[in-house]
Order: sequence, then C-alpha cells, then structure tokens
Amino acid sequence: MSFDPIKIYPTKTALIEATAHRIANIAAATLQHNDVFSIALSGGSTPEPVYERLAQEYAGSIDWSRIHLFFGDERAVAPDDEQSNYAMVKAALIDHIDIPDENIHRMRGEDDPQAAAKAYETEIKQFFGEDAEQLFDLNLLGMGDDGHTASLFPDTDAVHEDKAWVIAHHVEKVGMYRITLSPLSILKSCNIMFLISGANKADALYEVMEGDKNPDTYPSQVVVRSNHEHIVWMLDEAAAVKIKK
Ligand code: 6PG
Repeated sequence: MSFDPIKIYPTKTALIEATAHRIANIAAATLQHNDVFSIALSGGSTPEPVYERLAQEYAGSIDWSRIHLFFGDERAVAPDDEQSNYAMVKAALIDHIDIPDENIHRMRGEDDPQAAAKAYETEIKQFFGEDAEQLFDLNLLGMGDDGHTASLFPDTDAVHEDKAWVIAHHVEKVGMYRITLSPLSILKSCNIMFLISGANKADALYEVMEGDKNPDTYPSQVVVRSNHEHIVWMLDEAAAVKIKK
C-alpha cells in the first residue's frame, strides 16, 4: 500500500475531512485482505473532529464489527473524566457506531498506572501475538507544540524505552501520570499517520522533520527519524509553513 507521504490542506476543516476519508479508505483496503482492521487512536483535540466525521460519514459504510480500536496513550484518570482520551473517543465516535465492546481496547486510566501499562501490554500481546513484528494496521499520532507524540514527552526516559511496549510515567510538564505506547510498539505499526494542525505546531514540525537530531527535545523524532517506511503526514498549511514541500 503506497502512501503520498506529505499531504497539506489549505484549512483545518479540509484536513479533518481528508483525514477521516483516508482512514476509512485504509480500513476498507485492509479489510479486503484481512479479517480485521486495528487502529491506535490519538488523544488531544486535533483528532476529535476526525472521529466525529468518521461517525457521521462512515457509521453505515464501515463494518465496525471488524474494526478494533486501540489507544496510543491515556491520561491516568477515570474513563469518564473530561481529560480521558477514551471519554473523548467515546463521545465523538464509539457512541455513534455499532462496534462490539470487545473491539474497544482502552487503557485503564483509573487503575494504578504501572499496572495499567502492564495490563495493556498483555492485551496487545494477546491480540497481535507475543512476538509480533507488526502491530496496529494504522497508528494515528498527534504532535504537541513541544514535539511530543503520544505521551512521549521531552526529557523523559520514555523517549528511550526499548523493551516495554507500553509504559507509565509521571510527566512533570502536565502534572500527571500518563500511560503510553513506547517507541518500540509505535514503530511496530504497519502504517503511521501524523495528524497535525495549526501555526503553533509549525516550529516543532520543522525541528522534528528537518532540524538537528535531538529526540530528547523533540520526541516525535524517535518515530520520524527511524527507518519506518510507512509514515504519512496529514497537515494543514498553518502547521506546514516551515517545512520543505
Ligand atoms: C494526548 C495525545 C497527545 C496529542 C498531542 C497533540 O493524550 O494529548 O495523545 O500526544 O496528540 O498533545 O494534541 P492536540 O491535538 O490537542 O494539539
């Protein structure tokens, strides 16, 4: 499956619409050859309208019984907390589609973070296989204005985790525990899609894509500067203003 690596849209609305369409297309293409389609969802605010659009436009045209929803990271809060990524995805997408409960693989933010991370690692190993080389068919990642992705934040050991598939750590910057896929499991994704919007991301996006290699400062580089061959960028012009097109 070949990707145009960098797609830039004039507005956030166009970006959101195109991203929902592209995710639906990747799911449909995958389901032509596979029994299921697995996607790791990003949290934050940018993807929320994408999930809403998937629910609005594709509730009836995607066989959600063959879709498995995973999470790239979660805040260590209850699943009904307003900060919960699961709560956001539930309101935007899950509540509007006919998807079996067992197809939703949430990180248990309400539990002890270390226990939740271990439990999630066990869950994805059971789903994909203990020694799986490839995990999620698609991993939808966001990027903060500091260059973090998932909950791999600057100057944290999480950026260099090379054994665990899922980790929990206290992130000073946000003053809370986060549970997150590690670089190892993110890079096991078959396809990776960065969804980035807004002028406030332009500097970090330049540094991540074209700046000096410095993953401790710009953690998204652990993904971007890897040898992963299937990374696609869904950007709006405001975010892409500093990168070479
Ligand atoms: C989270 C996300 C995080 C997010 C970035 C960008 O839990 O917040 O997983 O990595 O993708 O912080 O967030 P925005 O899309 O809100 O800018």
